[in-house]
Amino acid sequence: MSLFWRIFSLNAVGLIAAAALLLGPVTVSTPVLPGEALAVVAGLAALLAANALVLRIGLAPLQRLGRAMATADLLRPGARALVAGPAETAALITTYNTMLDRLENERATGAARALSAQERERHRVARELHDEVGQTLTAVLLQLKRVADWVPEELREEVGQAQEATRAGLDEIRRIARRLRPGVLDELGLPSALRSLAAEFTTHGLTVRHHVPGDLPRLTEESELVVYRVAQEGLTNTARHAAADRAEVRLRPVTDGVELLVRDNGKGLGGAPEGSGISGMRERALLVGAALSVEPAPGRGTDIRLRIPAATGKSR
Ligand SMILES: Nc1ncnc2c1ncn2[C@@H]1O[C@H](COP(=O)(O)OP(=O)(O)OP(=O)(O)O)[C@@H](O)[C@H]1O
Ligand SMILES: [Mg+2]
Repeated sequence: MSLFWRIFSLNAVGLIAAAALLLGPVTVSTPVLPGEALAVVAGLAALLAANALVLRIGLAPLQRLGRAMATADLLRPGARALVAGPAETAALITTYNTMLDRLENERATGAARALSAQERERHRVARELHDEVGQTLTAVLLQLKRVADWVPEELREEVGQAQEATRAGLDEIRRIARRLRPGVLDELGLPSALRSLAAEFTTHGLTVRHHVPGDLPRLTEESELVVYRVAQEGLTNTARHAAADRAEVRLRPVTDGVELLVRDNGKGLGGAPEGSGISGMRERALLVGAALSVEPAPGRGTDIRLRIPAATGKSR
C-alpha cells in the first residue's frame, strides 16, 4: 500500500471512530470535566503516535536508499539497495537499482574499451621504438664500429664514447619498450615476466623478492596481463611513494584461481586518496572478474591483493 493511503486510512479510521463516539455514547460537557479531557487527550495522543509510527516505518527505506546512494561506488559494483517499504518507495528503489545495473554495465564496457585501446597504443609505440629507433641506433652503432677502425688515434677515444652513448640509448629504448609491452609475457609466460619485473625494480635502495611457483592454475591471456599490470603499478607505487627497502611479489594458487600479493614495508598509504594508478588497477580487476584490495600490510607497509579466477575450459 502506498504511504499516502496508509496515512490517509489511519487518520480516517481515527477520525471516524472519534466522530462515532461523540455522536453516540460519549459526550463532552462545557466546561469539560477532567475525565473527559483525559479521554480526548489520550485519543489525540494515540492518533499522533500511530501517525508518527506509520511515517517512520514508511520513510525508513527512503533513508536507507539515501545512504546507499551516498556510498555507491561503480568501482566496487554489486551493492544494491534493499527493495522495501510502501509502493512508491519500493518502485523508486527498484528504479535506482536498475539504473546502477545500467551504469555498471556502461562503465565496464567503457573501461574495457579504453584499456584495450591503451594496450594497443602501447604495443604500437613499443614496436615503433623497437623497430624504428632501435634499428636506427643499431645501424649507427655498426657504423661507429667501422669508423673506429679507421679514425686516427687521437679521435679513437671520442668515437668510443659515442659508441658507449649509443649503446646506452639502445638499452634504454629496449627497456622502455619492454615496459610498454610486456613481451616476456607472450614469450616466457607470467611467472618469468613477474620475476623479471621484480629484478627490474630491485635497485640499491629497494630489494624486491619474488615467490612465483611454476605450476599455477591457468589464466586467460587477458587475466595474465591484468596480473602483470597490477604488479607493475604496485611496484611503481612502492618505488615512488613507499620509502620501503623491501618488497615482494607473490603469486599463489587459491580456490578456483590465483592470488597476487604485492607487499612493501614502507610508510603505508596513510589515508592518501586513490589516484589514477589504483583506480586503474580496480578497472582492470573488474574487467576479468577479479577482486582487488589495497590495505595496510601487517606491521607496516602496504598490501595489494588481487584474486583472479582461473581460466575455465580451453579459453587460452
Ligand atoms: N605502496 C605505497 N606506499 C605508500 N603510499 C602509497 C603506496 N601506493 C600508493 N600510495 C599513495 O596512494 C596515492 C595514490 O596512488 P596511485 O597509484 O593511485 O596514484 P599516484 O601513484 O599518485 O599517481 P599515478 O596515477 O601516476 O599512479 C599515492 O599518491 C600515494 O600517496
Ligand atoms: Mg601510482
